[in-house]
Amino acid sequence: MNNIEWGKLPFGYVKTHYNVRCYYRDGKWGEIEVSSDEYINIHIAATCLHYGQEAFEGLKVFTGKDGSLRVFRWDENAKRMISSANGVMMAPPPMELFLEMLEKIVRLNSDFVPPYGTGASLYVRPLLIGTGAQVGVSPAKEYLFMIFVSPVGPYFKEGFKPVKMQIVRDVDRAAPHGTGRFKVGGNYAASLSSVVRAHQEGYGSVLYLDAKEKKYIDEAGPANFFGIKNNTYITPDSTSILQSITNMSLRQLATDMGLQVEVRPVPVEELNTFEETGACGTAAVITPIGEIIDRETGDKYTFGNEPGAVSTKLYQTLQGIQYGDVPDKYGWIHVIG
Ligand code: PLP
Ligand code: COI
Repeated sequence: MNNIEWGKLPFGYVKTHYNVRCYYRDGKWGEIEVSSDEYINIHIAATCLHYGQEAFEGLKVFTGKDGSLRVFRWDENAKRMISSANGVMMAPPPMELFLEMLEKIVRLNSDFVPPYGTGASLYVRPLLIGTGAQVGVSPAKEYLFMIFVSPVGPYFKEGFKPVKMQIVRDVDRAAPHGTGRFKVGGNYAASLSSVVRAHQEGYGSVLYLDAKEKKYIDEAGPANFFGIKNNTYITPDSTSILQSITNMSLRQLATDMGLQVEVRPVPVEELNTFEETGACGTAAVITPIGEIIDRETGDKYTFGNEPGAVSTKLYQTLQGIQYGDVPDKYGWIHVIG
């Protein structure tokens, strides 16, 4: 047993018992290895260190009322990991390997899955890196796929409370035909300067605009964006954003609640017309946005200090499915026995 105060956990790293690893060498994946070492030993010329051959995922495991360990939509994360791997020319880990390693690490660290009712969950972080040495710019021949886990609380310290976001125009996270739709480290490196500045200036996160025209909303630093108006759930269509699994799920839940769903470019001025706005993602869940300030123009959009009714219902339904309190009619949950 450990003496973690589950209800007070931030979104951060907690050392657990084990991580799991699998090497790709000579054109094939090897045996799954279990390690209690938090460090990895790699070649000084590994492509992950020089040329950004790196992709990661983020998914969560929840404890149900009955004590079951419930993973949310792992298959979508496994598919996106394959897409990201292909996007930066890495060997993609097969779905079966992803699942086997996922089940193994959750079982090995089951006492780190926060109990039902604490509001916390076990964050699972699969990570793929190019480990083969190359000095010229080319893909590695060897890869390491790993998964570690960490019990976490809310990503935004406010939890399900509106945060302030800042629109940035002087930094682009991703280009229209760049790597924005892949979950690769370079996108996050590109975001750091504006995210740190936004924190220093008192904002929870940033909202990026489309890099080409600066006319449309792309997404938040660590999450997708949605707006609600006239009984409609509206979320940006863009080639430079991550295809969020949470957003995909919310679109289904919104439809089930009788809302219209629109996936289309969202002009910045449309912010004036939204009744509610939010950021959504595995870490963010739904984080309502209370206020958006355009750093350059000074334009301000306010949505109130309390979560809106639609965002609240979506949040409760999504979390209800994750914790097992609402029927999982789409088979999104995989129970680890
Ligand atoms: N957008 C970015 C940039 C992210 O890092 C994340 C987090 O994974 C998301 C969106 C949300 O995606 P998902 O709901 O699949 O976690
Ligand atoms: C997630 O929601 O899983 C993320 O990866 C967001 C952030 C921690 C990078």
